[in-house]
Amino acid sequence: MSTIADLRTLYRLTVAPVRGRTHAERMESFYHQQAGDYDSFRERLLPGRRELVQQLPLREGAVWVDLGGGTGANLEFVRDLVPKLSKVYVVDLAPSLLEQTRQRCERNGWTNVEAIAADATRFELPIQADVVTCSYSLTMIPDWFAAVDRAIELLKPGGVFGAVDFFVSRKHPEIGYAKHSWFTRTFWPTWFAFDNVHLHPDHVRYLHRHFECRRFLEFTTRLPYMPFARVPWYLFVGRKA
Ligand SMILES: C[S@@+](CC[C@H](N)C(=O)[O-])C[C@H]1O[C@@H](n2cnc3c(N)ncnc32)[C@H](O)[C@@H]1O
Repeated sequence: MSTIADLRTLYRLTVAPVRGRTHAERMESFYHQQAGDYDSFRERLLPGRRELVQQLPLREGAVWVDLGGGTGANLEFVRDLVPKLSKVYVVDLAPSLLEQTRQRCERNGWTNVEAIAADATRFELPIQADVVTCSYSLTMIPDWFAAVDRAIELLKPGGVFGAVDFFVSRKHPEIGYAKHSWFTRTFWPTWFAFDNVHLHPDHVRYLHRHFECRRFLEFTTRLPYMPFARVPWYLFVGRKA
């Protein structure tokens, strides 16, 4: 972590224009200048990824698909397990982030990991997965519901889906779920939308509707260099029936 690297990333997050006619072009435009600094800044920006990955049934021989997996940072949270898995697919639209995944695999000698440039809403596999994850990617996928539907298709019966992401509650959430203030429901979606990150009040309901919920937790966190307010995030683990 260095201040210069943080300043570079902050410039990309808050000032630099994101260009591109397609979603894939916009993703690469956003990420290509920050790919090398991605992990150190996101370690502080994106909470809960380690907690999510470490509670998934990633047993010997398992197949794991990480949709919107970026630099493959999630693999580090179970690094000793990775070589024992049958196959890991890190699927992303940004080639510069996938290049970081490839370098990570080379450094670690992981030969069973594939970094694949593909759209998470259309990604297909000839085999079924034991685990599919989306960490902070659903908010960046315009058709996030299609990515969840795809995850269901990719999973074998009894397979497990795990997600962690920022979100906002509905104005009137179900009883027992967090209810966020007007400020939270208005400010954060507007703020994040600048970077094409769309906080949504329907993720939580959609995930509960499509998986047997095994774990659902709601939190708030402070963002680096923004001490004045807390942004909500959730962790979800569910089983395909
Ligand atoms: C905030 S990053 C999270 C990356 C990684 N999961 C992590 O936790 O560090 C969101 C990722 O979703 C990817 N993404 C956005 N839309 C996508 C799509 N339709 N298909 C695949 N990946 C997508 C972006 O390129 C980016 O790498």
